[in-house]
Amino acid sequence: RRHRIAVIAGDGIGKEVMPEALRVLSAAQQKFDLPLELVPIDWASCDYYAEHGQMMPDDWKQQLQGVDAILFGAVGWPATVPDHISLWGSLLKFRREFDQYINLRPVRLFEGVPCPLAGRKPGDIDFLVVRENTEGEYTNLGGVMYAGTDREIVLQETVMSRFGADRVLKFAFEQAAARPRQKLDVATKSNGIAISMPWWDGRADAMAQHYPQIAVEKHHIDILAARFVLQPQRFDVVVASNLFGDILSDLGPACTGTIGLAPSANLNPERTFPSLFEPVHGSAPDIYGQGIANPVAMIWSAALMLQFLGEQAAHDAMLHAIEHVLAHGPRTRDLGGLANTAEMGAAIAALV
Ligand code: NAI
Ligand code: MG
Repeated sequence: RRHRIAVIAGDGIGKEVMPEALRVLSAAQQKFDLPLELVPIDWASCDYYAEHGQMMPDDWKQQLQGVDAILFGAVGWPATVPDHISLWGSLLKFRREFDQYINLRPVRLFEGVPCPLAGRKPGDIDFLVVRENTEGEYTNLGGVMYAGTDREIVLQETVMSRFGADRVLKFAFEQAAARPRQKLDVATKSNGIAISMPWWDGRADAMAQHYPQIAVEKHHIDILAARFVLQPQRFDVVVASNLFGDILSDLGPACTGTIGLAPSANLNPERTFPSLFEPVHGSAPDIYGQGIANPVAMIWSAALMLQFLGEQAAHDAMLHAIEHVLAHGPRTRDLGGLANTAEMGAAIAALV
């Protein structure tokens, strides 16, 4: 047992929150005797781009050979590199070429965090969004015809495969089966998107046959978004196509306070390739350099990584430390506190 972890801080506050995640990981390593081997990576950033004209070296895949997981800060510095170049040149390459077909985003309301939804208390909101991460609505298939004329036409295809849909649905059912509520909610839009979405529903029904103990409920995406806000306590595991999952997995964390808390895992569950763990937030140029970024999303992402690597006890200790610090402080400004990034990170590390 040995875990090789590539560490990519990236840009902006990625460079500020990553040291806090490493500080907490190091505390967990000491306490649980974790066999961690960190591989620092100095590419996949806009600084690297400024020097080399590309986000990553040509041999990036070879350099990551034998790595079990990638811990990723954030990428993007729109003042110098357009976002589609920085994102498609790094993060999206990892997701697609490492077949990280699951994007898993826990949504949870913590004690001590002001909730934007009136009347909600911790315990009311605690669910997982499982997003399909490699196909669906996000393709490059299509184009513009008769461009610039009044007959201009644009077409953008959705591609869903039985293989792709079944594997994300199976993952979601397995997650639901491992949790006490035994409940899965499926995002659809089969009333409006009349070919692919009824087909998606059919794949969900077929998969449900293998999980008779799981209560399955389908929701059209529009009412599902409303229910995230109005009745978040209904949800336990929610599975969605790439586009719907993208929207839901930002809406979910938005319902629990600050984006500075939300973690994510880009998983290749078969472990053929490394999986990637990153906060939901980006590089936050507006606050970079002040040392006030909330490090929890990054630290929680590192905890998810340990869980995926089989280190459940270390994951649980990190999460308990996060819970305690959110409830009792110190807290960063986005949580209404006065602490800086390092103070909050150190407080969490001390409790692991
Ligand atoms: P952002 O998530 O970087 O920032 C949005 C807002 O949330 C800002 O006001 C920021 O100050 C605040 N915020 C974000 N993280 C925070 C934290 N940890 N603590 C306290 N406040 C926090 O999104 P934005 O501004 O749309 O994008 C900035 C750059 O990040 C762009 O280049 C974008 O492409 C990139 N980006 C990268 C992502 C990634 O690496 N996965 C994800 C999202 C954006
Ligand atoms: Mg998004």
